[in-house]
Amino acid sequence: MSNNSIETIQRDLLERVQTVDVPRDVLKSPELKQLYGTIATLPAEERGPFGKSLNDMKAILEQAITEREEQAESAKIVALDVTAPWDLNTHQPSLLPTTQGTQHPLTTELEVVIDIFTRMGFQAIESRQIDDDFHMFGALNFPENHPARDGYDTFRTEEGFIPPAHTSTMQHRILKNGRADLEAGTPIAAISYGRVFRNEDVDATHEHTFYQVEGVFVSKTATLGEMLGTLRSFFEAYYGQQLRIKTQPAYFPFTEPGLEFAIEKPAALGGKPGEWLEMLGCGMIHPNVLETAGIDPNEYSGFAWGGGVERLVMLKYGIEDLRHFESAKLTFLRKFA
Ligand code: DAH
Repeated sequence: MSNNSIETIQRDLLERVQTVDVPRDVLKSPELKQLYGTIATLPAEERGPFGKSLNDMKAILEQAITEREEQAESAKIVALDVTAPWDLNTHQPSLLPTTQGTQHPLTTELEVVIDIFTRMGFQAIESRQIDDDFHMFGALNFPENHPARDGYDTFRTEEGFIPPAHTSTMQHRILKNGRADLEAGTPIAAISYGRVFRNEDVDATHEHTFYQVEGVFVSKTATLGEMLGTLRSFFEAYYGQQLRIKTQPAYFPFTEPGLEFAIEKPAALGGKPGEWLEMLGCGMIHPNVLETAGIDPNEYSGFAWGGGVERLVMLKYGIEDLRHFESAKLTFLRKFA
């Protein structure tokens, strides 16, 4: 084949690189394949030089293709829609399609949790994401300057507001708002769910931002036994199987007594007998907390609990790293789509 015809083909192909939609496809064009095919038909001494001229041509084409791709890319960047979901702007086909959004797995699981508790008769209210010292600590029987406050690694704004470190920040409101019903003979039964914030170093089991669910129940006759039954029913409903539970004493200024509540890790989720997982803090509501909300602790008693949502979900799905939840990684999120 003459150099002349190679040059003609090269010119054609270069022109095509400039005009087709997918310039890289030009490398797959039949003309090029045919040229490579002719190598084998040439006399031995011509193969080397001919092969080299083909490779040179391919290099020229590649360069032209890359340049065109880069141009196309920067043209897209100019047209970037900053309000679009981020993966619409990445041009990575493996991450598309994004025609349909999905709910974050924590939201979905939180809905499951809320559904179980509302079916058990609890009213569900969202927890606040900004609060004050009184609700976060004072109303919960944390004396001023008490060392127990340090355990909550609390953020504070310059004005002294607090992004709450636990959903217990809602307890006082729940009690105060439920007082009238209580006096009319209806127990207070509410959960409060939402984001909480702690000034913690982040690792596989600690996040600065996570979700909790708090439960509060008050009646004339509330007992610790009722609390354990309520919690056990919840966990059995959530994991869809019977569970063994145990408690151990714990200190919270707002409970008396205070407990840590653990479940035996279900065999279906890879647990061995005797493998206990601490799921939440709980206890009988401290008389001072009831009194601060205007409820007479001599007449009424209550129990409360609070625990992390991520932990529940991690166990259910075998998720090993808490950081996945806030990472916005589509590879993780798509597993729940
Ligand atoms: N607020 C506690 C925490 O985040 C958990 C807790 C313990 C909540 C005991 C309660 C309770 O309502 O009674 O560590």
